[in-house]
Amino acid sequence: MMSTEVFLCLVLVLLSDVLHPWSEAEGLVVGLEVHQSARLSAALGETVTLHCNFTCTLQGRDRLYGKFYRVEGGKNIYTDNNTVSRTTCTVSSIIANITLESEAVYYCEVKIPTQTQGTGSGTAVTVYAEPSSMEIPEPQTLVVDTEALLSCAVNGFYPQNISVTWFHRDLQVPLTSITNHLTTNRNGTFSLTSQYRFTPAVRDNGIVCRCQASHPAWRCHVTLEGVLDVNYGPQSLNLTSQNRPVLGEGSNKTLELPEESPLDVSCWPDGNPRPWTGWFKDRGDGLTPAEPPVGCSNETLHVGAVQREDEGVYWCVVKNSYGERNTSFTLLVVVHDYVTSFIARLLATVIFFFLVALMLICTNIIQDNRRRTGLNHGEREPGLSGLKEDD
Ligand SMILES: *[C@@H]1O[C@H](CO)[C@@H](O)[C@H](O)[C@H]1NC(C)=O
Ligand SMILES: *[C@@H]1O[C@H](CO)[C@@H](O)[C@H](O)[C@H]1NC(C)=O
Ligand SMILES: *[C@@H]1O[C@H](CO)[C@@H](O)[C@H](O)[C@H]1NC(C)=O
Ligand SMILES: *[C@@H]1O[C@H](CO)[C@@H](O)[C@H](O)[C@H]1NC(C)=O
Ligand SMILES: *[C@@H]1O[C@H](CO)[C@@H](O)[C@H](O)[C@H]1NC(C)=O
Ligand SMILES: *[C@@H]1O[C@H](CO)[C@@H](O)[C@H](O)[C@H]1NC(C)=O
Ligand SMILES: *[C@@H]1O[C@H](CO)[C@@H](O)[C@H](O)[C@H]1NC(C)=O
Ligand SMILES: *[C@@H]1O[C@H](CO)[C@@H](O)[C@H](O)[C@H]1NC(C)=O
Ligand SMILES: *[C@@H]1O[C@H](CO)[C@@H](O)[C@H](O)[C@H]1NC(C)=O
Repeated sequence: MMSTEVFLCLVLVLLSDVLHPWSEAEGLVVGLEVHQSARLSAALGETVTLHCNFTCTLQGRDRLYGKFYRVEGGKNIYTDNNTVSRTTCTVSSIIANITLESEAVYYCEVKIPTQTQGTGSGTAVTVYAEPSSMEIPEPQTLVVDTEALLSCAVNGFYPQNISVTWFHRDLQVPLTSITNHLTTNRNGTFSLTSQYRFTPAVRDNGIVCRCQASHPAWRCHVTLEGVLDVNYGPQSLNLTSQNRPVLGEGSNKTLELPEESPLDVSCWPDGNPRPWTGWFKDRGDGLTPAEPPVGCSNETLHVGAVQREDEGVYWCVVKNSYGERNTSFTLLVVVHDYVTSFIARLLATVIFFFLVALMLICTNIIQDNRRRTGLNHGEREPGLSGLKEDD
């Protein structure tokens, strides 16, 4: 039964071809309008579907062929996975896992044997790849005032139309400080190494540098940040005292403390890495560590209760492998406060006794005067009467 049906079909097909010799052998009437989008962009590895549609002129038993092809070396290469729909009058083709080799112009060809045929104007498929990785490798040690090179590597992108911009503390770096090296990878993608040449300053320590790559095909640009670690020797040193301020500038700094009061002076250096800090006392014959433990880094010079013999010049010395700096102050211990108070008390006592004496003398004089004017006749001075009696 089946085979006879197939046979009948074949016969019918052959008959129709014979009846209409212009159809397949000599080409169909070219008049079928086939529409397809002009461009299609896909990321590497994506699955894309090519589409085309055409004006439907199908009759019930018309056969329909639809396929996409690309032209390579003068030959038409047809794609796989073509689906033709009689109801929507569309042809589609799925390209799974698109590769760089998939880049081509794909033409949609539709044939309705015995009637018509047509070819679309082609869909140009372009492939792009966002970078597979991007990195700012750890730079060699950055040293202040020494030319340095920061690198930024962008790998596995496609096509090569990339642009890289550097930002130094949010300011765009001029192109003259940037060098780019583009390389082609085995898989056809590109990699770029961008180098930013600059001379770091102290204030660059801890700031952020950004490398930004952009590409016309990418959905957004990619940015990478690096925090600068600039090594430098100590540049400034600040002395702070807990109780009384250290007065003066440069080598003339002095600190006056009353005897028995505590001494706490801290020496704050900058510098990267953090400098070693030590305190020394000038004892005339050179410097000796001011406090135990000797050789330990300690910002704070501490003496529980200063004595006269603690007076002198103290040096704070700070250093790291990039530099050294020092400062000093002179400690003056004021016993003078105690002496003053002693003298003041002595003086007060003397004045007190002097005043008392003065008062006594005054009363004596007044009483003498009264007696002399004779206003108090009835009153008898015991001493005087005694004297009188003696007389
Ligand atoms: C055919 O495709 C074009 C663009 O590809 C579209 O504008 C049009 O609406 C489609 N027509 C039909 C009938 O789907
Ligand atoms: C055809 O489609 C199937 C399923 O969608 C897929 O697995 C296969 O890889 C496709 N073939 C090509 C050549 O794209
Ligand atoms: C896509 O193709 C690439 C290269 O041909 C292959 O390495 C990869 O495994 C494929 N990926 C998938 C999901 O098929
Ligand atoms: C292509 O090669 C580069 C460098 O070897 C790699 O980074 C990238 O991931 C590769 N891309 C694909 C799609 O295999
Ligand atoms: C990308 O680069 C190619 C070759 O350098 C050039 O022909 C093309 O116009 C560029 N495309 C864009 C979008 O810049
Ligand atoms: C220290 O004091 C002396 C005398 O008062 C002065 O001549 C000198 O300039 C001062 N030095 C500094 C660094 O202030
Ligand atoms: C020292 O003090 C000055 C002024 O107050 C300040 O600018 C500087 O940062 C300080 N240095 C350190 C190391 O603290
Ligand atoms: C620094 O000295 C102070 C006071 O003598 C002491 O309390 C502190 O532990 C010392 N710090 C170090 C790191 O030695
Ligand atoms: C302090 O620094 C000066 C020069 O910067 C140096 O000549 C001197 O020897 C240093 N003093 C100490 C105690 O380190």
